[in-house]
Amino acid sequence: MPAASRPIGVFDSGVGGLSVLRALRAELPHERFVYVADSGHAPYGERDDDHVTTRSHAITNYLLSEHRIKALVVACNTATAAAIKSLRAAYPAIPLVGIEPALKPAAAASQSKTVGVMATRGTLQSEKFQALLASLHGQATFVLQPCDGLAIAIERNDATKIEALCAEYTGAMGQFGLNSEAIDTLVLGCTHYPFVEGVLRKSIGGQVTLLEGGTPVARQTRRLLEAASLLAPATADQPATQFLSTGQPDDLRNAALRWLQLDASVSALTTP
Ligand code: DGL
Repeated sequence: MPAASRPIGVFDSGVGGLSVLRALRAELPHERFVYVADSGHAPYGERDDDHVTTRSHAITNYLLSEHRIKALVVACNTATAAAIKSLRAAYPAIPLVGIEPALKPAAAASQSKTVGVMATRGTLQSEKFQALLASLHGQATFVLQPCDGLAIAIERNDATKIEALCAEYTGAMGQFGLNSEAIDTLVLGCTHYPFVEGVLRKSIGGQVTLLEGGTPVARQTRRLLEAASLLAPATADQPATQFLSTGQPDDLRNAALRWLQLDASVSALTTP
């Protein structure tokens, strides 16, 4: 098979990366994707770096050897923070795209220069995130909120828990709105969180700008594929995405149906 016709691998700790897959499918309609939800080893955000790095390498290795992927998208902020550097070192030959909280666009967009950031504990504590924060020193005040338990509540589609945690975490961040002191821009620094935008809006109102990273990641993926002459040839229909889960296949299947309107068949992944 010509290299350009091979699939693009996408992985996350679970169903959250579907928010990135949605943007990828919109930006690259002729590409074939293989999506791995590592739900059997989630959450990543409350585990140590070793766990996240080991899982990231195991999944990448699996996608390369079993699916012969031509590019990889790490659709997880926590995995990007912990492992992107070592993944780039281990796999220098394939285009590799990670995701990080959209702090820079948020600082530019904010009028009050007060930006909220919701992310996992792992992302916020990472060296990569701390360096990004330091690079924006003086451009805005960033209110950082670790959101323990939120990604897993979204994994389980536990509406009661989601409501409670969203209210608790936004409440802890301070005032939201368009007043001069208020948070007027909120960064969703975990790929699970875009799926609870409606619940978040109940606490923060309709005027706050929400920023997530799916679309920039999709554009960057296109740029890298173009540069490497790896864009797939045009097809009449969008190729089917292959879905795999190390957890409960039905959770991923239901999430794909709910959020992407995709009637997916999901295979259980026992390795890696
Ligand atoms: N979706 C992941 C992220 O973007 C993390 C969720 C988890 O804690 O597993 O950070």
